[in-house]
Amino acid sequence: LLLRLLLVQGLFLPLTSSRTTTVHRDQFPPSFLFGTATSSFQIEGGYLEGNKSLSNWDVFSHIPGKIEDGSNADVADNHYNLFMEDIELMHDLGVDAYRFSISWSRVLPKGRFGEVNSEGIEFYNNLIDALLVRGIKPFVTLNHYDIPQLLEDRYGGWLSSEIQLDFGYFAQVCFEAFGDRVTYWTTFNAPNVFIYNGYLLGTCPPGRCSYPFGNCSYGDSALEPYIATHNLVLSHATAAQIYRKYYQEKQGGMIGIVIAAAWFEPYDDNPADRLAVQRALAFNFAWFVDPLAYGDYPPEMRQVVGSRLPTFTTEEQKKLDVKLDFIGINHYTTEYVKDCMFSFCTSALSIGEASVYVTGEKDGVYIGEPTAMSDFFVVPRGIEGIVMYVKERYNNTPMFITENGYAQPTGPIDDSLNDTKRIEFHEGYLAVLSEVVRKGADVRGYFIWSLLDNFEWLHGYLIRFGLHYVDFQTLERTPKWSATWYKEFLSQDNKTQ
Ligand code: NOJ
Repeated sequence: LLLRLLLVQGLFLPLTSSRTTTVHRDQFPPSFLFGTATSSFQIEGGYLEGNKSLSNWDVFSHIPGKIEDGSNADVADNHYNLFMEDIELMHDLGVDAYRFSISWSRVLPKGRFGEVNSEGIEFYNNLIDALLVRGIKPFVTLNHYDIPQLLEDRYGGWLSSEIQLDFGYFAQVCFEAFGDRVTYWTTFNAPNVFIYNGYLLGTCPPGRCSYPFGNCSYGDSALEPYIATHNLVLSHATAAQIYRKYYQEKQGGMIGIVIAAAWFEPYDDNPADRLAVQRALAFNFAWFVDPLAYGDYPPEMRQVVGSRLPTFTTEEQKKLDVKLDFIGINHYTTEYVKDCMFSFCTSALSIGEASVYVTGEKDGVYIGEPTAMSDFFVVPRGIEGIVMYVKERYNNTPMFITENGYAQPTGPIDDSLNDTKRIEFHEGYLAVLSEVVRKGADVRGYFIWSLLDNFEWLHGYLIRFGLHYVDFQTLERTPKWSATWYKEFLSQDNKTQ
């Protein structure tokens, strides 16, 4: 208890003062933004408060057996009621920016078929205003996986082109309400994750599988992920067009998209595996970004999928001509990629129809230290790989590292609080990132996932990513050692020695 008290009071000096800090804030440009990230569904709770409607994740997480620990996010961190406390935590850390998402079902409970919910608008207004008072810039995600269930029920969510109208309307309502104070907008968080899990493997809402992937029998030759992505990419374009036309000039902000961006190394150093790495990157990353940068899907995908990959009509191509102001990179892992197109793979295929096998292990040796997430391995060099890929493929479009974080299993509180592994993780990744920035990659910010332990989707509360420990019974927040480390890193006195 005494140790915990000392920690809470920030008096546990040996942690940082006796360690040799390997990375310093002034190794980054002065304008570089440092922050923390969260998402509405994972932290807010208040699932029926303030006139919010049910989202597809509310409904899905209530189906018995879907979430590993049988939990749901009805309360989560109760950030909906405790947001002022959470802002104080960030103020204490000294972050420049806070990346959070807006719950679509809170702002538009009935999508474009009903009224704007004034209580939802008020909640985010209060949040944004309180951040700004403390000098923290809001970095807003419009969609972080969850959509109003009503849009699923009414027309099948992302499978219908109607969603472009709904997403455009939602975006416009947000630009109108918050754009006078928000200058960083992202349309989607990690669509590659929810499209593969929701439409190919069937593990996340809406739980649809595509043959021969996933564990259910319906689906039509893996077409649904392509259709859903087509509508999603055009939804981004709809929102970006509205922003450019009516808001950007007077509000002076930027709009981009965030992709879950693993880095891949060839399993064997041979041409087939090197080519497989390029296919993996195309099917995982470029699938969502090439259309917005170049007006079409990646050639590496077209070669494999042929005419089953949708084509953009001339009108759609015009719509896509919005250019990305920045690309957000959520980076957690590096894995090996093995070719399964020219050679036979015994194990299950990974990344849809890319014909690759992805693994973190070779000849019994892991590519980097394993973490509580089975496919996340600690390989700091990987951040150089993915940033240079994006730099080269998209002509050094500005980038933000919108998420980077370390997964711990849940366990005794003291084990969680003494998170030296998390500190080493961030120091390692930041050291490499600072080199990459010095080499000319236009990376403008770095957000730690996450401010708080929270609802980790299918894993419920079993995995903790927070800089702050959350007791899910009392909802008390306690800074971990990593919070003390981040605070010291961010402090102005942290000059290179
Ligand atoms: C990426 C997702 O954006 C976030 O929601 C999730 O919690 C983290 N990865 C960790 O898995």
